[in-house]
Amino acid sequence: MSAVFNFTFVPWFRSVAPYIHMHRGKTFVIGLAGEAIAAGKLPHIAQDLALILSMGVKIVLVHGFRPQVNEQLRLKGHEARYSHGIRITDEVALDCAQEAAGQLRYEIEAAFSQGLPNTPMAGSTVRVISGNFITAMPVGVVDGVDFQHSGQVRKVDVAGISRTLEAGSLVLLSPFGFSPTGEAFNLTMEDVATSAATALQADKLVFITEVPGIRIRPGEPESEDNPIDTELPLATAEKILAEAAQAKDPSDIAFYLQHCVKACKDGVERSHIIPFAVDGSLLLEVYVHDGIGTMVVDEKLEELREATPDDVGGILALIEPFERDGTLVKRGRTEIERDVANYSIIEHDGVIFACAALYPYPESRTAEMAALTVSPQSQGQGDGEKILKRIEQRARAMGLDSIFVLTTRTMHWFLKRGFVRADADWLPEARKRKYNWDRRSMVFVKKLG
Ligand SMILES: CC(C)(COP(=O)(O)OP(=O)(O)OC[C@H]1O[C@@H](n2cnc3c(N)ncnc32)[C@H](O)[C@@H]1OP(=O)(O)O)[C@@H](O)C(=O)NCCC(=O)NCCS
Repeated sequence: MSAVFNFTFVPWFRSVAPYIHMHRGKTFVIGLAGEAIAAGKLPHIAQDLALILSMGVKIVLVHGFRPQVNEQLRLKGHEARYSHGIRITDEVALDCAQEAAGQLRYEIEAAFSQGLPNTPMAGSTVRVISGNFITAMPVGVVDGVDFQHSGQVRKVDVAGISRTLEAGSLVLLSPFGFSPTGEAFNLTMEDVATSAATALQADKLVFITEVPGIRIRPGEPESEDNPIDTELPLATAEKILAEAAQAKDPSDIAFYLQHCVKACKDGVERSHIIPFAVDGSLLLEVYVHDGIGTMVVDEKLEELREATPDDVGGILALIEPFERDGTLVKRGRTEIERDVANYSIIEHDGVIFACAALYPYPESRTAEMAALTVSPQSQGQGDGEKILKRIEQRARAMGLDSIFVLTTRTMHWFLKRGFVRADADWLPEARKRKYNWDRRSMVFVKKLG
């Protein structure tokens, strides 16, 4: 074994430990687009799911089958018909859906049954249990269009699924449901996954999809300064949805986002859209700090927002103790009043208990994050991190490449969050002129991905 290996593997493995502890015993509902299976991604996704399961996470896997049903229809010489973004399931389409679901269940069970030595599945024993956990009702006739055997979820057998999860099995759901009269309905993967996540009050709903996530400027094309927005507060996600056109196709912004928002509003704290094109995307999203796709997160318990002039008193009260002990540079009321629009804050019941300000230097495509503070009684609960993310979002939205901080005492906190040390000479000219050489603050820079 090379000596270098120890120095890379051990810190890397330890860095994942907090996430392993955090997710143990939690319930994840995974919506897997049929396109992922058609693209041959199932073996690796099954390996990753088996690994996550072995770390104590309860998993409900819902598979989609859009391309597989369309392929069956094509073989039968029939065309796939859609309206309002939903398949119109006639007798032939229902037959095709049943065939496709049967085939996919078989493939998924097979993928979880591998266990050859020297593969990631060696030694794993994943029990895959599927069943009639979903009760459905017809979509019916909408705007004069008869959807025939297309249905929507009416009820999820929470007790049945929970018992199966408690026994350590993976629950596999197909986009099918039955009415109390025994009639079969073709459902959408997105509806089944969202309904299951909501009914189970799952900790996460994750869609593994053909899209990489939601971009910072959602309607604009992919580019270096329009990357994926890794964290969308529920309110922002709702705003994007309100402005987006009705979704017909998975590439439409609202297609997965509408389900993430619905789940979040109904009590699932975090829902994610991640790409199947990136190998290991599920591991990257769940066990790495910044993730890879878009996470919609419900922040209703507290309000994270930009500051207004009414917040000046609250900000002063929060930062003054840290100014007094020298942790923060002194800023007077007048300066905060002048710059209040630069601040983001977290407020709870009218009390501000976290803040930070963003001072852009557009000519250097960077910005300073200043006055990052979390009130002593709520430190250590992730609020510092939330404020940092908000500041990063604001900087990205301004088209900046990086943010920097000047600190005398908190370097390790920044190092852990992707900042690297830089020389004071690195600072933008305008900032260098104001740099207090006596204070000898250290400069840390974070590149915005
Ligand atoms: C630094 C600060 C903003 C972090 O806020 P927070 O809400 O406690 O941070 P989070 O909950 O996101 O992170 C907590 C983690 O940071 C660690 N941490 C807190 N202060 C730290 C420091 N000064 N140096 C290194 N790590 C620190 C905690 O030990 C905890 O680690 P753990 O997750 O391994 O237990 C907060 O401690 C603070 O307001 N400090 C005083 C003001 C300050 O120093 N601001 C920075 C000026 S440049």
